Amino acid sequence: MDRLLTGLQPSGALTIGNYAGGISQIVNYQKDYETFLFVPDMHAITVPQDPEALHRNIINAIAMYIACGVDPDLENMHIYIQSENLYHANLSWIFECHTPHGDLTRMHQFKAKSALHETFTEGLVTYPDLMAADILLYDAKYVPTGIDQKQHVELARNLAIRFNNRYGEIFRVPEPMIPTIGAKIRDLQNPEQKMSKSTTNPKASVFLSDTEKQIRKKIMSAVTDSDGVIKFDEENKPGVSNLLTIYSVFSGCSIEDAVAKFEGGGYGDLKKGVADAVVEKLMPVQEEYNKVIESGRINEILDEGREFSNKIAAEKYEQVRKAVGFGRI
Ligand code: TYM
Repeated sequence: MDRLLTGLQPSGALTIGNYAGGISQIVNYQKDYETFLFVPDMHAITVPQDPEALHRNIINAIAMYIACGVDPDLENMHIYIQSENLYHANLSWIFECHTPHGDLTRMHQFKAKSALHETFTEGLVTYPDLMAADILLYDAKYVPTGIDQKQHVELARNLAIRFNNRYGEIFRVPEPMIPTIGAKIRDLQNPEQKMSKSTTNPKASVFLSDTEKQIRKKIMSAVTDSDGVIKFDEENKPGVSNLLTIYSVFSGCSIEDAVAKFEGGGYGDLKKGVADAVVEKLMPVQEEYNKVIESGRINEILDEGREFSNKIAAEKYEQVRKAVGFGRI
């Protein structure tokens, strides 16, 4: 079975964007691939985190994956925490020593995040090397993500190709798996930007854990445009196109069907339809989430994932260690 691998940072509560770009793809493909799904807590500390909140967000993220339909009982499903596997950081260091600095500082995400603060940590620069280690340790064929992570997966591909050329065939060259609908869910207040976990605008992002009232309020106050026409045109009508995309992701219909359903009506009806679809999907997810938290199973799932992921990563790391000349033969 080929492998899928992805991770969602526990840097805050998960959004409907994370669902569209990451979680829903895992749920759709989990029976067809061996799946490695992990919480990149080491990535989260590239920006300051409150330690207590980070612990909590890690467990909450796992419960949310499962509540959304990730099946931890599948034999080919492995769920684990990045920091519980020391090979990720070890391989990341080796990759840092094989990546030109300029390749890291030209990453879109680095440019955007570093511009937000006067100073930033070196971890924000080397972040894509750690992400490459996450992926390449497991010979993943596909990496399901939203469009914002595509450039990082491409850096991992380039590293794998360069490494293989220099040291012999060690890594499988991965491919990004970007959904056709929902690769970039936009900020509800500023549709030029992607929806983000770490927004400071309380109306910008819908979280998977939001109450029905919050969801409806945020979607009803989404920024659109003033021409009053419902059509899918991401460039000229990003707000309306975003609402149609969210409707499509949460109702399961195509963009064409979403347009056909709402065209000719007002933006108010479109927003109400979108809010209904999101609420209908998320209310049962939240019930399930509470059950998962109460079941007390998360530790057991993570113990199994830690053991399995360490076994696979140890084998790959041993190959790399020998190839670069570390330690004894
Ligand atoms: P993160 O935590 O920012 O996002 C998790 C996943 O959600 C997707 N995503 C979106 N998709 C659509 N619309 C949006 N507005 C939106 N916002 C986020 C992301 O593309 C991602 O798939 N670096 C990664 C975490 C990571 C990782 C990895 C992913 C670390 N190691 C190895 C894959 C493989 C990140 O920060 O994602």
